[in-house]
Amino acid sequence: MRARVLSGIQPTGSPHIGNYLGALKNWAKIQYDYESIYCIVDLHAVTVYQDPQELRAKILELAGMLLAIGIDPKHSALIVQSAIPEHTELAWMLTCVTPVGWLERMTQYKAKSDAQETIGDGLLQYPVLMAADILLYQAAIVPVGEDQKQHLELARDIAQRFNSLYGDTFVMPATHLPTVGARVMGLDDPEKKMSKSAAGSGHAISLLDPPATIRKKIMRSTTDSNPAVDFETMGAGVRNLLSIYQAFVGVDDDAMKAQFADMRYGDLKKQVAEAVVASLEPMQKRYQEIVSEPGYVARVLREGAERVTPIARDTCDKVKHAMGLYTA
Ligand code: TYM
Repeated sequence: MRARVLSGIQPTGSPHIGNYLGALKNWAKIQYDYESIYCIVDLHAVTVYQDPQELRAKILELAGMLLAIGIDPKHSALIVQSAIPEHTELAWMLTCVTPVGWLERMTQYKAKSDAQETIGDGLLQYPVLMAADILLYQAAIVPVGEDQKQHLELARDIAQRFNSLYGDTFVMPATHLPTVGARVMGLDDPEKKMSKSAAGSGHAISLLDPPATIRKKIMRSTTDSNPAVDFETMGAGVRNLLSIYQAFVGVDDDAMKAQFADMRYGDLKKQVAEAVVASLEPMQKRYQEIVSEPGYVARVLREGAERVTPIARDTCDKVKHAMGLYTA
């Protein structure tokens, strides 16, 4: 049996080049080498309030976008989390072996809960549900960006704790990061991670931004007080632009140095913008084709759910049996 890959993305905001370079590009790349399952995690999205109508639309939009970036439904199962009840069933069983202290230590929980007036319990449980997404399919490899590393470590801790309490049940999942682009920073503020929720129109490049918008955002991005690229002294903004270029174009460090050393920032930005535009344009074209075919996206999601449900059921039954829960 081929090793299994699982990863997930929240259907909130618009997917951006950080999501693409940190995770989605790897999803498309490794799907031919493993049995791959990619999940739109709508139950994670509702850990903070979402407008229901908007959320419904975003789920289908994101599914279309994942197909457009190259997720091939012949090779990968594309699924929506809430369509497969075993995700929440396993999450409860894992909740029962997870110490609250482990969850309170999560940096994303701390950051997100600071921004809320009342903290929903779902926000605390968020990484347990994420562990369930992974362990449900006995995934060995989880391609993500750097910000998910801590959640992945927790998933392994939960799996280990379950295995030692109830016997060997779960495969240990490994984190798979890209070599470049694991942490893309905001264009307006290179000290902050590029994020779907961060305010400011100059912050992120959405995968569906038209070329003129992409050029404008990159030309206005924050650099530093140098006039031109100096690899020794460059600040976070210039480093970010260079790694965006490198991740999209796929050149090595030496070629980067030869190409960009001493280049004025205006010229650097033009080259980065053209590289991003050229990479996103074919995806945007495919996206339009995909969403113009009525019922196609919904059919892919239905077939994905049908394909993975037997695996999910099998794991839940094993876990129930291991814990001594009632199985008819
Ligand atoms: P989410 O929706 O925030 O992001 C989806 C993927 O994009 C990566 N990413 C980034 N990579 C580089 N630079 C950035 N600025 C950047 N921003 C986001 C994320 O690391 C992620 O890989 N909790 C997850 C979703 C999830 C999941 C899972 C992931 C739920 N269950 C099971 C893996 C396995 C999240 O909120 O991702």
